Amino acid sequence: MAYENVLLEREDRVAILTINRPKALNALNNDTLLEIKSAVLEVKEDSGIDVLIITGAGDKAFVAGADISFMQNLSAMEGRAFGALGQDAFRQIEALEKPVIAAVNGFALGGGCELAMCCDFRIAATTAKFGQPEVGLGITPGFGGTQRLPRLVGTGMAKQMLYTADAIDAKEALRIGLVNSVVEPEELLDFVKKIAKRILSKGQVAVRLSKVAANEGMQTDIDRGMTIEADVFGLCFATTDQKEGMTAFVEKRKPQFTGK
Ligand code: CAA
Repeated sequence: MAYENVLLEREDRVAILTINRPKALNALNNDTLLEIKSAVLEVKEDSGIDVLIITGAGDKAFVAGADISFMQNLSAMEGRAFGALGQDAFRQIEALEKPVIAAVNGFALGGGCELAMCCDFRIAATTAKFGQPEVGLGITPGFGGTQRLPRLVGTGMAKQMLYTADAIDAKEALRIGLVNSVVEPEELLDFVKKIAKRILSKGQVAVRLSKVAANEGMQTDIDRGMTIEADVFGLCFATTDQKEGMTAFVEKRKPQFTGK
């Protein structure tokens, strides 16, 4: 499908979704969110894709937030609908049963930080900046920021970021656990692709079930979480990948996984 505000490329079994409105620092308007939803659905339905990478076009921004010009004159009901659309798009990314990595190549503010946070993990360029500047615009975060930031970095740090609207640099994002690694901007995509390759070399059913168990377990108590884990663990023994993975170990060779 052809998109105007995003690019969806495929390299081997990796899809790269680039938010592509560099003139507006990749800010998210209604159309862009709808295109993100369609692109993620394409990735979901494409059995040839096992990992999704999300990044921003240009060298300045990942995504500088929801589009402020678009939001400026919204009514309360329109604002609610816009927030729900962003939440829905980002929840779809979070629930995608394939790993999603954010390659954060610059400003990740407001909706941009929220987009990065709905991915499974984040790798940042040294130039990245993260923040939830919404209170400086007289609004709250609307695409999941009040919920995912405390879950990721703890309530104290999240609330400081939410109340002050202060942005943090990549080094600080690494320190508080918002990103996993920080690399030079020109190395970012290759670095993330290398991680994707490491994931691709494993059993994909097990990778996906790990995501399901981790995500569902984060929403529940430890006992229910253990039951979820026992269920997916058991399910693995019905797969060809489990037979191959363990046989290969015993035979001291590399496994040839088929994702079945
Ligand atoms: N919405 C719409 N346009 C945006 C934008 C945004 N979030 N961020 C940047 N732009 C546009 C600018 O208006 C500018 O357009 P023009 O050239 O037509 O004037 C262009 O992108 C380049 O931006 P700047 O000239 O401002 O670039 P800069 O380097 O001086 O500053 C910046 C960069 C600090 C990121 C600054 O652009 C900025 O503060 N942007 C807004 C960040 C923000 O507040 N984001 C949160 C939005 S609210 C939100 O996201 C709510 C939610 O949770 C759903």
